[in-house]
Amino acid sequence: MNSKQIIELDNSNELLLEELRQKTLREINDELSKQAQNLVFGKGSSKAEIFFIGEAPGAKEDELGIPFVGRAGKELDKMLSYLSLNLEECYIANVLKYRPPKNRDPKKDEIIAHLPYLFEQIEIIKPKILVPLGNYATKLVLSNFNVDEMKKIQGVSELHATLHTISLGRDNITFQVFPIFHPSAMMYNPKLRDVFKEDFKLLAQFLGKEFKEEKQKSLI
Ligand code: URA
Repeated sequence: MNSKQIIELDNSNELLLEELRQKTLREINDELSKQAQNLVFGKGSSKAEIFFIGEAPGAKEDELGIPFVGRAGKELDKMLSYLSLNLEECYIANVLKYRPPKNRDPKKDEIIAHLPYLFEQIEIIKPKILVPLGNYATKLVLSNFNVDEMKKIQGVSELHATLHTISLGRDNITFQVFPIFHPSAMMYNPKLRDVFKEDFKLLAQFLGKEFKEEKQKSLI
């Protein structure tokens, strides 16, 4: 194999993701896409081991076309730094690819229309673990992405930091799932930060990584 072929092989996931981004732009033509400013497709490494799944873009994400650009993304980045990782080395995408007006809850038909693109993202990246963020994504992923079954699934308060297996796609590829609280929940309930940290310690164990908290800077 020559070096050009090796580079091409190495870039194949990135190319597939870019093709999928363009397909998403072409194919989703619903009310959400008409009202939104930008497609918020996903960001991070095309070879990520961790795939975070959020619910839907907010105002800032819609403006910039990038998921988790606000405080929630910073919270995630901080925790990942304890695993010597950052968000760019993971992958992060939402269930909904366009912002719902006024951040209202996603509707069933919107989820059904947007989900195939999330599936394809997961199938291209083939992460070691899927990490749904918060109640909504947790229920959706653990119902095997069946919107009608979501209500039967317990919420993230009960299921955070527990390991599950789901299978996806025509080939029934299995994925491990490890739900955690949505990082923005800590803005409303700072006590959750300790829970979030403990959950990341378990995630680190699963990935065989060391969890090393940065030392407090000395005040002297
Ligand atoms: N919350 C989400 O679920 N997704 C984003 O992109 C930003 C905040």
